[in-house]
Amino acid sequence: MNERPKILVVYYTQTGQLKRIIDHVLAPLEGKADITFEQLVPVTPFPFPWGKQQFYDTMPETIQATPRAIQPLKVDVNASFDLVILAYQPWFLSPSQPTAAFLQSEAGKQLLRGKKVVTLLGSRNMWLNAQEKVKQYLQQAGASLVGNIVLVDKSPNLISLITILRWAFKGKKEATRFLPQAGVQENEIITAGRFAGPIASALASGKWEELHPQLLALDSVELLPNLVVLEGKGIRAFRFWAKFISAKGGPGAPSRQGRVSMYRGLLLVGIFVLQPISIITSLIQLNLKKQQLRGEVDYYKGITLR
Ligand SMILES: Cc1cc2nc3c(=O)[nH]c(=O)nc-3n(C[C@H](O)[C@H](O)[C@H](O)COP(=O)(O)O)c2cc1C
Repeated sequence: MNERPKILVVYYTQTGQLKRIIDHVLAPLEGKADITFEQLVPVTPFPFPWGKQQFYDTMPETIQATPRAIQPLKVDVNASFDLVILAYQPWFLSPSQPTAAFLQSEAGKQLLRGKKVVTLLGSRNMWLNAQEKVKQYLQQAGASLVGNIVLVDKSPNLISLITILRWAFKGKKEATRFLPQAGVQENEIITAGRFAGPIASALASGKWEELHPQLLALDSVELLPNLVVLEGKGIRAFRFWAKFISAKGGPGAPSRQGRVSMYRGLLLVGIFVLQPISIITSLIQLNLKKQQLRGEVDYYKGITLR
């Protein structure tokens, strides 16, 4: 009898959304693969719901990839796995701090060395820069990225922003008279089991190069070109603010709270006043640089690192 393939799932989740996504993706593999879960646990937990100031104060270290530490892993880092599923969420256009802490840790690197990795994201809709960072970490660890699955909130950008902030600050996910439910749409989550087929085939055949094209054929990554433009602008602004705030002190330092508040205020102005302007400039850019943008979209849908 053939041994069942071994899958390790490494994940962090605050609200449980990502764990539900993982469970739906893996449900068809139940009984067909040995699945080990490694939940990342920060030494000092991040709050949920978040205090507003604390939320924005978390930005600089997330952008600068100097994350809060996680507790030691429970899994044996020398154990062999046929596949690692790295399930994570972007925070401030970067991998969430517990994810970055894992990818930077010696234990994480040892665990990932030589492994095939599928990334699985549960996000709002801005994940491109985070995935670029994760690709770099995986390459440095000697792992190979063989597939990517991204679940996003498909509501219009500003609507998803309002619902996610309400969810993050008040813990309220449910729909209101005027707003849809926060987070990834239920239908996206419950249909995520379709990705198990290609994963099972690759595990059986060892033809890993076929996995990502098969996942893409099932719409594992859908990407709107205007988000490529918007995210490019966002990350440049975030890097500036991260440097400006952290120059005044570390996470939570009273000395930097004035700058955190400034960033908080300007971010909201930026989003609600500048974003409509930015959409117009993006539209112009979209038309002028159609070809180039199409290339960018194809790149971000892929799994290579340039
Ligand atoms: C501090 C913070 C920053 C976030 N930044 C982003 C972001 O830049 N892009 C994005 O698509 N989603 C962002 N999100 C949403 C998360 O990626 C995620 O979808 C949500 O927090 C639920 O994840 P979880 O319950 O599995 O942890 C952010 C969430 C938090 C808490």
